[in-house]
Amino acid sequence: MRVKFVAGNWKMNGDRAANEALLTALVPALSALSGIESVVCPPFVYLQQVKSLLGGTKTALGAQDLCQFGNGAYTGGVSAAMLRDAGCSHVIVGHSERRALFGETDDLVAEKFAVARGNGLVPVLCVGETLAERESGTTESVVDRQLQAVLQRCGISAFRGAVLAYEPVWAIGTGKTATPEQAQAVHAFIRSRLAGADAKVAAEVRIVYGGSVKAANAAQLFAMADIDGGLIGGAALVAEEFAAICRAAAQKH
Ligand code: 13P
Repeated sequence: MRVKFVAGNWKMNGDRAANEALLTALVPALSALSGIESVVCPPFVYLQQVKSLLGGTKTALGAQDLCQFGNGAYTGGVSAAMLRDAGCSHVIVGHSERRALFGETDDLVAEKFAVARGNGLVPVLCVGETLAERESGTTESVVDRQLQAVLQRCGISAFRGAVLAYEPVWAIGTGKTATPEQAQAVHAFIRSRLAGADAKVAAEVRIVYGGSVKAANAAQLFAMADIDGGLIGGAALVAEEFAAICRAAAQKH
């Protein structure tokens, strides 16, 4: 049995007052749950604040990105070591917004994955196709290309304990959720590709879905055999929504 994993990606949202209000409502709701792993991923500048608001709860702290370099002359960068020092256990790698808006290539994403692993951070590796790619029937080849870049750079053993997030770009922030069947099909494909390298790692790795997940659709998605939780954007900024999504993940499926 894979333990469900739910991460909130706040993206570039929040301020000190809003973060405090969100966490004050969220912490008691999440503390009441057992049997899931939850993570919140605020912007870098709020990591320290969110860490202290989380206090001793089980909810973990994640970053939304990391620099591929170690500490040194890399103006504007934030290293894996700094994320560890700030209390992070997780880091999102290769989010589609990083790929599309910040020019991150498959190779750079693979390098970041390697650096996260090398520094003891759990990478949450995002893959997913655009609408044009889906419509042209290339979903599997796109997702496979993104996956193979990391497999080739890091090897299958690096996926042990890592998390994969299937986030179809057309479903992110659009209100258009992939149907549970559409998401399941891609999750099963990802797992089968990993199984080609190591069946045990493939069976154990969590593959979570992201793209317009809300309290209203979470349970149906999480009921699918290969959907092991969610990577939540907009709904992670609303305490009651995020808590309800975590409750859906904590139900027995
Ligand atoms: P939304 O939940 O806002 O669609 O965002 C999904 C996402 O990109 C999470 O990383």
